[in-house]
Amino acid sequence: DDDDFSHVVKGIIYPRFVSEANLKAMATFDIRDDDIVIVSYPKTGTNWTLEIVNKILSAGGRTDASSDDMVGKLEFQYDDESRPQHVMLQECASPRVILTHLTPDTAPPGIAHPQNNVKVIVVMRNPKDTAVSFFHFGEKMRSRFAMKQSPSWDEYFMQNFLSGNHPFGCYFDHVLSWWQKRDDPHFLFLKYEDMKQDLPKAVKTVAAFLQVKLDDASIDTIAHACTFSNMKTTLDNSRYEDRTLMARKGIVGDWKTMFTDEQSRLLDFKCKAKLEGTGLHFNFE
Ligand code: PPS
Repeated sequence: DDDDFSHVVKGIIYPRFVSEANLKAMATFDIRDDDIVIVSYPKTGTNWTLEIVNKILSAGGRTDASSDDMVGKLEFQYDDESRPQHVMLQECASPRVILTHLTPDTAPPGIAHPQNNVKVIVVMRNPKDTAVSFFHFGEKMRSRFAMKQSPSWDEYFMQNFLSGNHPFGCYFDHVLSWWQKRDDPHFLFLKYEDMKQDLPKAVKTVAAFLQVKLDDASIDTIAHACTFSNMKTTLDNSRYEDRTLMARKGIVGDWKTMFTDEQSRLLDFKCKAKLEGTGLHFNFE
């Protein structure tokens, strides 16, 4: 399954930016007591959550950093000359906001088993919109970096998303691996669809989890700054190339533009098989 875009490590596909050495380094990466970690499957709201967290920390006087200073994912190394993110993060001032797409068994132990004041925010998105978002992002990345031709939607859906042969692992196994932590007070679970429905409420929930006291006016200001249209400008102007490809539509239900009825049925069936009885469910529109 190796190609110029991705490679396989211990049975899981990763982008080339995530080297075997960097994955190995996760086992000894030190988590600090005031770290805030955002965990996500790709394309489920990572950058959105980062922006919310960063704006809350800024409003609470806890950080001077801009979210564009913190966009690197822990396990990534963006080019051969630059240093791995996990090395750069060791020099970052606290409080750090750490992003990762890893699972509990591949992430640093301090994230999988947080102690003391470590806060882990897990963001999730319904699998149909996640697949569509990932598909479009993959196409853009491949054409930007002149990589091999992208698979068609039908190929991607059947051979990657549905089969679980997908970067960072099977979507369902990934979300369920973190969902095991739902009763751990170090964890907060957010859903993209809930954030979309009531952003001020989500901002309030995150601020409370981070123990930052904010009045309603500040909550509303942050929510306003984090709407898709307002964030699109920030993302499009990022100095990081992958971030400039990020803001696409930012809606719930875009899967309807790609899924055939049969594909939708197949995924509904898979959702039932994987999620029924777990307490985890998603809104699709
Ligand atoms: S990545 O590459 O994994 O870090 O991508 P991630 O940030 O997780 O997900 C990208 C999708 O999130 C959408 N997005 C937003 N939606 C709503 N509101 C805001 N503010 C927002 N910011 C980013 C982005 O558009 C991608 O989704 P799609 O469906 O492709 O538009």
